[in-house]
Formats: sequence, C-alpha cells, structure tokens
Amino acid sequence: MRIVLLGAPGAGKGTQCKRIVGRYGLQHLSSGDILRQERAEGSELGKKAQGYMDSGGLVPDDIIVEMMVGAIRKAPAAGFILDGFPRTVNQAAELDKALAPANQKIHAVLNLLIDDQVVVERMSGRRSCPQCGAVYHVGNLKPKVEGICDQDGSKLVQRQDDSREVVANRLKTYHEQTEPVVDYYKNNGMVYDVDASKGVDEVSAMIFETLDSLASVGSRES
Ligand code: AP5
Repeated sequence: MRIVLLGAPGAGKGTQCKRIVGRYGLQHLSSGDILRQERAEGSELGKKAQGYMDSGGLVPDDIIVEMMVGAIRKAPAAGFILDGFPRTVNQAAELDKALAPANQKIHAVLNLLIDDQVVVERMSGRRSCPQCGAVYHVGNLKPKVEGICDQDGSKLVQRQDDSREVVANRLKTYHEQTEPVVDYYKNNGMVYDVDASKGVDEVSAMIFETLDSLASVGSRES
C-alpha cells in the first residue's frame, strides 16, 4: 500500500505512523524526520532547510521533492506511508508525476482532523527521542522513566520549532498551503477523514479499520 497521512502540525501523524508501519510492514517516510537528520549531520541540505524550519515556514518545493522522491524510490515493495509530504499542491502533483512511470499511485489519504487549540497544547508537552524519533507527551503519553526514551534510553528533547510563536506560524502555514492538498486528493475520491482529537488508541483503531478494508479490497495491486 502507498498511503499519505495529512494533518496539522501536532495532529499525531508521527505517533500514528509508528503504529501503522508495525501493523502493515510499510516504510515510514517522514519529511520532517529526514530534514532533522540532515540538520543533525550538518549536510548542505540540512543547512538550506534550517531557516525555514526554525521560522515555521516550508522548505522550498524543489528541495523537498528531490529528497522525498529519492526516498520513495528506495522503499520496499510492501509500500510506504508518507508523513509531512506532500505539503503543497505542487508537491502533490510532483509526487503523482514521480509515481506514474512505474504505473503506481497513492491508494489512500488519511486526513487527521484537529482544532488549533488542541495542537498548541500537544506541542507544548511534546518530547522526542533524538536517536530513534519516538514521540512522547509530558501529560498523556509519558515514558516509563521521566525524560528518558523507552526504546533506547536516550535523553528526550523538546523540538526547536515547538515554541508557542513558531507553532502559531506552522499552523498558519498549514492552513494556507497544506489544506488545499486535501482538496487536491478529494477530487480523486481517496480521502478518509479521521477525528484526531480522540485518544491515541482510538485514533489508531479508526485508521486500522480504514486500512484493513482497503487491504481487503486488494489495493495492493497497483
Ligand atoms: P514535520 O516534522 O513534518 O512537522 P509537522 O507536520 O508540523 O508535524 P509534527 O511532527 O510537529 O506533528 P505530528 O503530527 O507528527 O504530531 P506527533 O505525533 O509528534 O515538519 C517540520 C518542519 O519541516 C516544517 O515546519 C517545515 O519547515 C519542514 N518540512 C517538513 N516537510 C516539508 C514539506 N513537505 N515541504 C516543505 N517543508 C517541509 O504528536 C504531537 C504531540 O501530541 C506528541 O507529544 C504526542 O505524544 C501527542 N499526541 C499525538 N497523538 C495524540 C492523541 N491522539 N491524543 C493526545 N496526545 C497525542
């Protein structure tokens, strides 16, 4: 299966992707995680992306499309789930163009719906593992030992772009530039809305129900 996961910053895309990949054997391709990795390595790409990320704006389409299409080409036959890409209508069109020569398409777009106020609360409490990318929340998704990753024992950190001011900018960017991507896919009848304000397990259950039904009607074929 080839899936796109859309939703505002903090809607729970990363959290749900970790669960989806475990169940369906898909590769998790997160544009944000790849960019943060590039920054941590001090690569040219990471340096170019830095200013846009820190201000809550979008990294230019040409940089992102090249990076993500490269990652998609290396994905296993079982498929992938895209997290944070595409984020503009132009990126969505470029993704379609990149898949077309291999006769491939996106099977489903999961659209996580959430209010801005909930996003602000989630972002202020988010803590992440800089090593494995595991995501926690100081209130509702605590690690077993405070401040330490359950998976690999690393010290958890707060993301640089989770300050109140930058979150407000990320939400503005999302409403202006990424919401139109939902309409792009709605025109092709492949969008499944998910109420992302529910608890993590409930959201996963709704997503699994959708993906199970897609898998059972044979969407793996093309
Ligand atoms: P990116 O890393 O993609 O950030 P984002 O889309 O803003 O999403 P987040 O990772 O912040 O949130 P999430 O939805 O994954 O939520 P999470 O699961 O962590 O992008 C960062 C930057 O990179 C962008 O601003 C941009 O500059 C650049 N970039 C990336 N892709 C790009 C592209 N395609 N084009 C151009 N630029 C690009 O959950 C959040 C918190 O809530 C956690 O603490 C979690 O524990 C908690 N939580 C999750 N689900 C629930 C729940 N159901 N109930 C209660 N708490 C929950």
